Amino acid sequence: MKEQLEQIRQKAIEEIESAQTSLDDIRVKYLGKKGQLTAILRGMGALDADERPVIGAIANTVREHIENALAERGAELKELALKKSLELEKLDVTYDGACSPCGHVHPITRTMERMTEIFVDMGFTVVEGPEVETVRNNFDDLNAPADHPSRDLQDTFYITESTLLRTQTSPVQIRAMRETQPPIRIISPGRVYRSDVADATHSPMFHQLEGLVIDKGITMGDLKGILSLFAKTMFGPETKTRFRPHNFPFTEPSAEVDVSCFVCGGKGCRVCKGEGWMEILGSGMVHPNVLRAGGIDPDVYSGFAFGMGIERVAMVMSGIDDLRLMYENDARFLRQF
Ligand code: DAH
Repeated sequence: MKEQLEQIRQKAIEEIESAQTSLDDIRVKYLGKKGQLTAILRGMGALDADERPVIGAIANTVREHIENALAERGAELKELALKKSLELEKLDVTYDGACSPCGHVHPITRTMERMTEIFVDMGFTVVEGPEVETVRNNFDDLNAPADHPSRDLQDTFYITESTLLRTQTSPVQIRAMRETQPPIRIISPGRVYRSDVADATHSPMFHQLEGLVIDKGITMGDLKGILSLFAKTMFGPETKTRFRPHNFPFTEPSAEVDVSCFVCGGKGCRVCKGEGWMEILGSGMVHPNVLRAGGIDPDVYSGFAFGMGIERVAMVMSGIDDLRLMYENDARFLRQF
């Protein structure tokens, strides 16, 4: 039996040392329930009583040897596998990678982000409003009477009698006033909708950026200061602004604002169509009725508001002459910006 044990030991060690992958089979073959060493240990009952402890001790040593060899080889194999995988996965950082085409920010988004950044730097907070609005927020509370032409079915996408796709970002003014008491200093960029047929300068969906400032003692001077600073930051330090009287239901007085053409500096060129000026926004002092509708006392507070078309600014800045190009998502067009 001693010899048998020695044979098992030798064979097991040999097999273990030459093993290249898993040691599991070898472990089962010798030490498993039906393994060779286990069989011997089971057969020990048939031995003489004085032989039993001797053989038992040898069997235990053999088991220990085999277990040690398994552990040692196991560690070696693990290390080998690691080395191999490290070699296989070696990264060549100088290798030219396969590059999938990389997109970039759309001119509308870029313009919107730049405008937002300028106002945020001046202390404005960005708020958003829903694109499906109430007729009340979009018209009534903005002092647009029931007979105002923009309320016509021809001009506006109604969802129900009392809800619509907002025609302007101005209803966010009402939402902001109802939510907080002054001081209020917010901007709100977003999509707006009008029932227009698409052409070079019209689209049924476009983007605006609304602004609202309300506090004690706000004047037209603040409006002019903020918008002139915006224009200089957006279009260049030489930019001049021109405030033309206008009419909006929600402001009194109201003004449309032009900036001197940043291409020709005001002399007149193709971009400004010879005018020297480009209209970029509508603005004015918030009408007392609008303040009241927003829950703010017009005898205590005053404010100004403005709204500008984002596409318009993106187009003049990038020299785009047809609005539709910006929505077609033709990569050849978009790649230019
Ligand atoms: N909502 C106006 C429009 O869509 C733009 C506008 C004009 C917004 C004057 C204002 C404002 O806040 O004060 O044409």
